[in-house]
Amino acid sequence: MMWQCPICDSVLYTPNDSVHRDNTWRCQQSHCFDVAKQGYVNLLPVQFKHSLDPGDDKSMVKAREVFLNNGHYEPLIQAIASDLQGRISQDKTYHLFDAGCGEGYYLRRLNQLLESHDITYYGNDISKNAVLRAAKQAHSMTANHQYIVASSYHLPVSKHSVDVLLQVFAPIPSTEALRILKRGGLWYQIVPNTLHLQEFKSLLYTNIQSHDPHQELDVNLINEFDVNFTLSLSSEEKAHLMAMTPYAHSATEDKRNACINSNSSLTIAFKVYVYQQFLMD
Ligand SMILES: C[S@@+](CC[C@H](N)C(=O)[O-])C[C@H]1O[C@@H](n2cnc3c(N)ncnc32)[C@H](O)[C@@H]1O
Ligand SMILES: [Zn+2]
Repeated sequence: MMWQCPICDSVLYTPNDSVHRDNTWRCQQSHCFDVAKQGYVNLLPVQFKHSLDPGDDKSMVKAREVFLNNGHYEPLIQAIASDLQGRISQDKTYHLFDAGCGEGYYLRRLNQLLESHDITYYGNDISKNAVLRAAKQAHSMTANHQYIVASSYHLPVSKHSVDVLLQVFAPIPSTEALRILKRGGLWYQIVPNTLHLQEFKSLLYTNIQSHDPHQELDVNLINEFDVNFTLSLSSEEKAHLMAMTPYAHSATEDKRNACINSNSSLTIAFKVYVYQQFLMD
């Protein structure tokens, strides 16, 4: 996969493929980006930043890291891995990119579940806090992961260079997704379904609006499936789940506590869409 300079869009060379053997990524026009000591690269120039610390803050990232590493969303990653396994071969190499990867749980688990395949894993997030944790956790495990701070609205990735795109509860415009995907490349889009966390929603809102998560995209939809299960969580785990969702910010403390202290089990409902990039324009 080729990186692209976020300032001038020319090819960005990493230390492995450039003549420079230092820890800096450079483009032909000499724009330089240092590899941070945790192993990620910040490719979000200040002029593209709309706030000082965009994306999820440290406490949201930490809550998600603890919650996901406890395996609560394991059925989701198992379902994605098994669909993907049926579509890729062991004789080829693949570049898999997770847009808005957060602290990188899905990339780490895919790497473990698809160990017999030759896949390089990449992730971006606009939150530096998240990317730092993703790089740190992955690099203590393996070398075939690269993480960058960047917005999914302007990815520093060359066109048609990604085999598999993963999008888990994070934004990416379809134009950008289709630009970076190779011809015939796969795009896994995961969104919450109407019943997702209905027990929280019924305590938080008087009017629960049901919504159809599907958006019509000008791309081949080759598969779609539901991943539904229930979770029985301790109050502490419910607090983590609240902290990693938008409810954490919009709900009053009373309502949040009602969710955390209720003893009902929780409905988890996801929808997975699998798209395939067109083979030609
Ligand atoms: C709900 S979290 C999901 C994170 C991860 N995919 C997961 O499921 O664990 C949404 C993520 O999108 C990131 N995000 C929000 N806007 C973004 C943007 N414009 N570009 C890249 N990432 C963005 C947030 O920082 C956050 O990490
Ligand atoms: Zn440049």
